[in-house]
Amino acid sequence: MSTPKSAEPRPIDPDWLAVDQYLVDTLLGADPALDHALAANADAELPPIDVSRAQGEMLGLLVRATGARRVLEVGTLGGFSTICLARGVGADGSVITCEYEPRHAEVARSNIDSADVGDRVEIRVGAALDTLAALAEENAGPFDFVFLDADKENNANYLELSMALTHPGSLIVVDNVIRRGAAANPDTDDERTLGTRAALEWLGSDERVDATAVQTVGTKGWDGFAMAVVR
Ligand code: SAH
Ligand code: DHB
Ligand code: MG
Repeated sequence: MSTPKSAEPRPIDPDWLAVDQYLVDTLLGADPALDHALAANADAELPPIDVSRAQGEMLGLLVRATGARRVLEVGTLGGFSTICLARGVGADGSVITCEYEPRHAEVARSNIDSADVGDRVEIRVGAALDTLAALAEENAGPFDFVFLDADKENNANYLELSMALTHPGSLIVVDNVIRRGAAANPDTDDERTLGTRAALEWLGSDERVDATAVQTVGTKGWDGFAMAVVR
């Protein structure tokens, strides 16, 4: 088997963009709150690495379908995915989202409040390794749904810490596990790819979860999600 050699940017196939646009037009339609969040993120010069509209909707539907009431997110950025998760839990649910950069958290707070889900979202500012340890210490869990989307170097650590914050049946979703195919390269020296591979290896070998991963293409390029159910 050939293995992709790097996570170097390569052009996103215009067909992938067109199809994502078609899906948004056909399935989702206009969403002023999410459009506003993206515009505010751009104004604040946050990196445009939010999940796509279609991906965000998928996360919200997964939350709804699993009946999750308590959601934990690692990596808030401007709150685009947080808004999707918060819609999914409904008015009596809650989301705790972890963000290292105070500036990102500030933009996210405003976007989340503008989307009318502010009352169900708590943003914890700090390094997520510390925040997850603190949440476990506080007995803040268990969470029904976990979305990991921050520094890829720590994804295996976040998975390990999630074991103390979830219950049998909890769903864990990990973003960006394919990295333009680099995840499958055993010779990589890229730290984020090494972190991703460590997370995939954790998911494949830890007996506390059942896991799979699926590649995706679209506005985010060639990437993918892993998902795991806690046994
Ligand atoms: N989930 C967001 C995108 C997150 S981007 C969305 O789809 O809308 C990744 C975020 O993780 C960035 O805002 C970055 O500042 C944050 N991050 C990076 N390292 C972190 C850490 N150690 N702890 C918490 N957040 C971190
Ligand atoms: C990056 C991070 C993400 O979470 C993502 O979905 C896309 C890109 C990045 O750090 O480049
Ligand atoms: Mg991501």
